[in-house]
Amino acid sequence: MITFHPNTKLWYPYILTQPQSFKAQNLSIKTAITASSLSSNQHESSKTTSSSSAGNIKRLVLTQQGRTKMNSAPDREFYAYPRLVTHVDNGFISMLTGLYRKRLEPGWEVLDLMSSWVSHLPSEIEYKRVVGHGLNTQELAKNQRLDYFFVKDLNQDQELEMESCSFDAVLCTVSVQYLQQPEKVFAEVFRVLKPGGIFIVSFSNRLFYEKAISAWRDGTGYSRVQLVVQYFQCVEGFTQPETIRKLSGDGKRMAEQSPFAWITRFFGVLSGLDPFYAVVAHKNFKPIYD
Ligand SMILES: C[S@@+](CC[C@H](N)C(=O)[O-])C[C@H]1O[C@@H](n2cnc3c(N)ncnc32)[C@H](O)[C@@H]1O
Repeated sequence: MITFHPNTKLWYPYILTQPQSFKAQNLSIKTAITASSLSSNQHESSKTTSSSSAGNIKRLVLTQQGRTKMNSAPDREFYAYPRLVTHVDNGFISMLTGLYRKRLEPGWEVLDLMSSWVSHLPSEIEYKRVVGHGLNTQELAKNQRLDYFFVKDLNQDQELEMESCSFDAVLCTVSVQYLQQPEKVFAEVFRVLKPGGIFIVSFSNRLFYEKAISAWRDGTGYSRVQLVVQYFQCVEGFTQPETIRKLSGDGKRMAEQSPFAWITRFFGVLSGLDPFYAVVAHKNFKPIYD
């Protein structure tokens, strides 16, 4: 079951296609609703039917063994209490925010999958709507950037109960290693993206070891990038994935212009900076923006 919570606004799947009229009528409503309260017919009829093979899973990437976790208890138990921490260092976050600044356009509709209490979106840019998803209600309720959020265990059920072609961008930050059915999740992301929409999956070398799938735990930085590339490639219709290992984002440039940059670099080497990896692809085609 999926539970939607309003942050500042009520979530309702149909607003994705009728945002103006819905907002005007319902901004003051603060009641959480469950998607299961929508009739299944309503939900099904909201999906786009297509005879194209786009979005189909061509092959499975992981073996059964590759999907296993050391801690096989339900993920909701592991995430039952809020972790109000940042999972990667400032250098990583700065690069990610720089990537979002470059690749996401103002006014877009954004879905932040496997999100938490902090957003890495650039604070100065306004998006039309940011929807968050995760496993811990308290974490998500603290995330000021989210207009709506919902809680759902993607290892139990991969369906995103949202209309097809709803989002310009889907993000998944330092979390892809916890997905046991990544092929189905990537296919769902494909479905909810608008044509040309972008999916940005970023990660580092940090992880909750007991909760990461075996194919990830046993890997290296290189093999993990290849794994995520294959997650994209197994879904018919994603563009050839682009891999990014390092980005000269604004934060890094600012740090290097600083007279104390050598100190930062010195301690950075000693402390070991979090490596930055991102794999990016588009639904159907890569748009060209002016
Ligand atoms: C390391 S945190 C990353 C949070 C956030 N993306 C960030 O950048 O700070 C991993 C997140 O993955 C989510 N997650 C883990 N297992 C999940 C599952 N089975 N279904 C849905 N979300 C899951 C949790 O909600 C958790 O917030």
